[in-house]
Amino acid sequence: MNTRNVLIAAGLLWLCSSPLALAADDALLARGQEIFQDVCARCHTAGAVGKLGPGLKDISKRRDEQWLDRWIKSPRAMIAAGDAYARQLREENKYDLTMPTLPIMQKDDNRKAVIAYLKTF
Ligand code: HEC
Repeated sequence: MNTRNVLIAAGLLWLCSSPLALAADDALLARGQEIFQDVCARCHTAGAVGKLGPGLKDISKRRDEQWLDRWIKSPRAMIAAGDAYARQLREENKYDLTMPTLPIMQKDDNRKAVIAYLKTF
């Protein structure tokens, strides 16, 4: 390795562990937590037992990111599109309620933040 490559490798290492990248993650999680508490916590908890909707413990193990993104954007659209899991939730009808389509969740950045936070459950 010549000096230039060593410098590039060191630079890449620095970038990956940079406090800037960590700060960005923290900000995303903080935003996700804020949204969850303001909007979702009325019906959901981070635990196994929910309120008006299911408890979201281990939700990121049950559902992948893409599913979560579509669901959180529009539960009704997903049920209408015939998604099997969404229909099953609806048919089991444990909560006597369909999750509402929330205006704040139409923004990509907000869904990204809340999904990052859901992954910590
Ligand atoms: C008014 C109540 C209500 C609000 C507010 C709400 N949800 Fe829901 N949510 C539900 C209900 C009810 C279900 C179950 C769907 C069904 O039975 O049709 C559900 C289901 C879910 C599921 C699938 C759960 C599982 O176990 O598979 C996720 C994920 C979810 N909600 C995330 C969110 C997030 C994130 C927010 C906030 C942005 C939110 N919800 C806001 C009522 C709500």
